[in-house]
Amino acid sequence: MQKYGVNELRRMFLEFFESKEHLAMKSFSLVPHNDKSLLLINSGMAPLKPYFTGQEIPPRKRVTTCQKCIRTGDIENVGKTARHGTFFEMLGNFSFGDYFKHEAIHWTWEFLTEVVGLDPDRLYPSVYLEDDEAWEIWNKEIGIPAERIFRFGKEDNFWEHGSGPCGPCSEVYYDRGEKYGCGSPDCTVGCECDRYMEIWNNVFTQFDNDGHNNYTELEQKNIDTGMGLERLACVVQDVDSMFDIDTLFALREHVCKMAGVEYGKKDETDVSIRVITDHIRSVTFMISDGILPSNSGRGYVLRRLLRRASRHGRLLGIKHEFLVELAGTVIEGSKDGYPELEEKKDFIFKVIAKEEEQFNKTIDQGLSILAGMEEEMMKKGEKVLSGEEAFRLYDTYGFPVDLTIEILEEKGLSIDQEGFDKAVEEQKEKAKGTFGEHSYSGREATVYDEIDASVTSRFVGYEKLVCDSKVTVLTTDTEIVEALSDGDAGTILVEETPFYATSGGQEADKGYIRTADFEFCVEDTMKLAGGKIGHKGHVTKGMVKTGDIVTLEVDAENRALSANNHSATHLLQKALRMVLGSHVEQAGSSVNADRLRFDFTHFSAMTAEEIQKVEDIVNEQIRASLPVEAKNMPIEEARKTGAAALFGEKYGDIVRVVSMGEFSKEFCGGTHVANTGVITAFKILSETGVAAGVRRIEALTSKGLMNYYHDLETKLVEASALVKAKPDLLAEKIRHLQAENKALHSEVESLKSKLAQDAMGDVMDQVVEVKGVQLLAAKIEGVDMNGLRDLGDQLKDKLGEGVVVLASAADGKVSLMAMATKAAVDKGAHAGNLIKAIASYVGGGGGGRPNMAQAGGKNPDGIDAAIAKVKEVLEQQL
Ligand code: ALA
Repeated sequence: MQKYGVNELRRMFLEFFESKEHLAMKSFSLVPHNDKSLLLINSGMAPLKPYFTGQEIPPRKRVTTCQKCIRTGDIENVGKTARHGTFFEMLGNFSFGDYFKHEAIHWTWEFLTEVVGLDPDRLYPSVYLEDDEAWEIWNKEIGIPAERIFRFGKEDNFWEHGSGPCGPCSEVYYDRGEKYGCGSPDCTVGCECDRYMEIWNNVFTQFDNDGHNNYTELEQKNIDTGMGLERLACVVQDVDSMFDIDTLFALREHVCKMAGVEYGKKDETDVSIRVITDHIRSVTFMISDGILPSNSGRGYVLRRLLRRASRHGRLLGIKHEFLVELAGTVIEGSKDGYPELEEKKDFIFKVIAKEEEQFNKTIDQGLSILAGMEEEMMKKGEKVLSGEEAFRLYDTYGFPVDLTIEILEEKGLSIDQEGFDKAVEEQKEKAKGTFGEHSYSGREATVYDEIDASVTSRFVGYEKLVCDSKVTVLTTDTEIVEALSDGDAGTILVEETPFYATSGGQEADKGYIRTADFEFCVEDTMKLAGGKIGHKGHVTKGMVKTGDIVTLEVDAENRALSANNHSATHLLQKALRMVLGSHVEQAGSSVNADRLRFDFTHFSAMTAEEIQKVEDIVNEQIRASLPVEAKNMPIEEARKTGAAALFGEKYGDIVRVVSMGEFSKEFCGGTHVANTGVITAFKILSETGVAAGVRRIEALTSKGLMNYYHDLETKLVEASALVKAKPDLLAEKIRHLQAENKALHSEVESLKSKLAQDAMGDVMDQVVEVKGVQLLAAKIEGVDMNGLRDLGDQLKDKLGEGVVVLASAADGKVSLMAMATKAAVDKGAHAGNLIKAIASYVGGGGGGRPNMAQAGGKNPDGIDAAIAKVKEVLEQQL
């Protein structure tokens, strides 16, 4: 058998199925679209689900792909053996209601034995227990003897992942020979050892799981197959594991070279080498699809993989930051199949460098704290780290809990997982909403799912804002209906519409749909599955029926203002790249008639100068009145023009490229100005951080900006009128007023203190001696607590050593204050207890320290009695 390379095998597979009339499609992004049941694409069929369910019409009924996939279900085992990896490529051929078991099985056999040249005698199929049809095909048509066909139950031969299409399956195993086997006499297909390797899975997709294990029979029968490219390469190249196949070998050896170790010499080092080799592939591919490290969802998976790789680098003795260099090797090895890796190279490197650096800081601190905890455990003879301690490491020091578990495991210790989970739960409760969403409950069904898949809508709004068209579907919120009438809320679908549906961050058009005696106010326009456009709103007059011809009219001003803002985001993106660097990528945007918001990747706050520079560049390009052009072109051609594309976006074969002079080119389906001059002016209102590595700019143009200035002007005029100054002299006037205010304030303060002195009269006459301690207990008129404290300080100074107790009533409230100097305290005086003892006379309570205490009360009539009591209390204290 010829030992084909990974890249050759990929090509051979796709070409084989192209020869069987399949459409070869590019791998989809790792980020699922419209599928909340999955965090990451984990099989070839996952991005194709709507084609299986019939919700969308596929570009062809036969499709073949090589899909990048990530599975992190058993991440802990990755590295421990050479069998597990998180990243892999899945080869697949798919039939959407076209061929079924017969062709699928025949082609599987043909590809494996005739194209790749595997020895037929080493191949063993398995079928689902009850699937006699598949069994017969293998046995009667292909000619596999009965004893070499295995029947397995639901566990092994029924395929499903998340919600969506699923069904019984038939797998093909390859006998790799005794050298890979466990040697047991019972060793056969299904054995845990490495001898019989499952290489291909044919799923006969005929059910849909709604995410809650309710199965419905699909209208069409489908085929979904999956063959791990790395596994196939393993078999074909007759090597131990996927870490030995041509492409991964290069990466693995790079790791070894960096660490100065050899693979295959020591179990411990092999584990680390495999972890790094596998994880850096996932990390590089995930970032190229726009995923950024974070503390929840996909971002957390990425962070975890990156941190595990980094830590295993340390275990191998790599001292410097090394992941960027390895990502370079991943990109070199895979850029032919995945050009996005090369395109996003700068960005990928930046994200990895930043995260690795941050983690290195965290890990040093975390490791030493964990070491301390371990020591404590040893001392106490404990084997389980408490949940709170593990949580403290995680929460306060950012130390990932799986690392804690792994490190402890290596020493035969563990953590109290339940306690940890509880602590996380408690924190989640405290910080509701900020911790991130972890629940993936699957796609919610809506009335729109019931619309026939053959209904589509054509968007004609680039050329016109008004058109006539036929109503194809009407719905209320819950059901498809034949008519909508006055007062009804609902959705209208037509054959052709000028209404732009929300997409690419641009808010939907608004407007009206009318006939002579019917009017519907369009409040929102939505893209629905399968190329449909829905106009949502309510009927303001008359009635409409399916089949009616209606006039659709877009609110032209709203559209024009949105266009100003949308076109400005293109200028902004380019300006940001010019000022900040090529790592700037669009991370989100939101544009409507009033304002624009643009999120982008950048790792620190912008300086005031950078913001100014960006704003200046955009305004320059507005003044330059650049012509704006939109062109449809094949995606490959568009990429060659260097047009900016969105990360992880699912683009078709033909894309629309919007260019503004020579200044900016972007993939974009939005509506734009014809000339940048129309935007009039651009102003950044704020620049803030929205997530790690993502910044947000909010800005205004044209009418929104004029409104903003007008508003400011009104406020300025109002403020100026209040202080009786002309607007341009307002600052001067305010400075003047501030100075005057300051002078008045200090005058008030000195008057207040004079008043207090007067109120005090000559209280020093009232000083008495109690067992050798000077005591001054006095009532003062109309002073608040702050005033009493000031007075107390002054009197204490005059007294030298002793105790001062003052009481005063102001606004019906009593304030009591006691102070004792150090010498008095040493002799037994206690201001706190003193206050406590007398506060009840003024209907209050309070207390304090030995040297200072205060209390409030409601009864001014009790002041004299309180003061009179002081002497007696002090006497007892001394
Ligand atoms: N979807 C099937 C799998 O992933 C083919 O195994």
